[in-house]
Amino acid sequence: MNGAFITIEGSEGVGKTSNVEAMVARLRAKGLTVVHTREPGGTPLAEDIRTLLLDVRAEPMASLTELLLVFASRAQHLDQVIRPALARGDWVVCDRFTDATYAYQGGGRGLDISQIDQLAALVHGDLQPDLTIYLDLAVDVAFERIKGRDHDRFEREQRAFFESVRSTYRTLAERHQRYELIDASQPLPDVQQDIATRLDAFVARFGPRS
Ligand code: TMP
Repeated sequence: MNGAFITIEGSEGVGKTSNVEAMVARLRAKGLTVVHTREPGGTPLAEDIRTLLLDVRAEPMASLTELLLVFASRAQHLDQVIRPALARGDWVVCDRFTDATYAYQGGGRGLDISQIDQLAALVHGDLQPDLTIYLDLAVDVAFERIKGRDHDRFEREQRAFFESVRSTYRTLAERHQRYELIDASQPLPDVQQDIATRLDAFVARFGPRS
């Protein structure tokens, strides 16, 4: 008995938050028990690590510190929330997972991919998402959407950083069959319809495994 592990990915400004809520509601309406969670975070301790990662402070954070913190948060989250939920047969919908590390720390910060591979193998070598919904949007449009927000440490990054984040995600989407690439430039109802279609097909394929 094992539930499905679904992740949602994309840069800031792509509309992840409203879409992930619609996804969770759709799965629950099918009678599935769904744990809705996020990274970095998802447990009180991991949420504290999230605060360390997102807060803007005078001391610059070394890229390696950032990498280790995202994986520290992930190890805690896996131990306390994700693995127990999947073992119960619940479905897990997680707002970001290790693909975000490839995109932000690998693409954005330029860290060595082999270091990320090693940490991913250490922290969850046996566990990968079954489905990844990726919301794709041109950086200019995404920037326009987050204008006026109180920007966290990542949102303060420059355009080139987000171009690398996007291009890494697009490469991952081509490489992994579990990816569904959604055109997030469409009006919200169309994005939601697109996601719903892919989600329904996945549920039909994966089925409730209990
Ligand atoms: P959010 O925008 O989904 O709330 O995520 C918070 C930020 O954390 C976002 O800018 C992406 C960043 N992040 C990483 O840099 N690496 C990671 O592994 C994860 C999960 C998030």
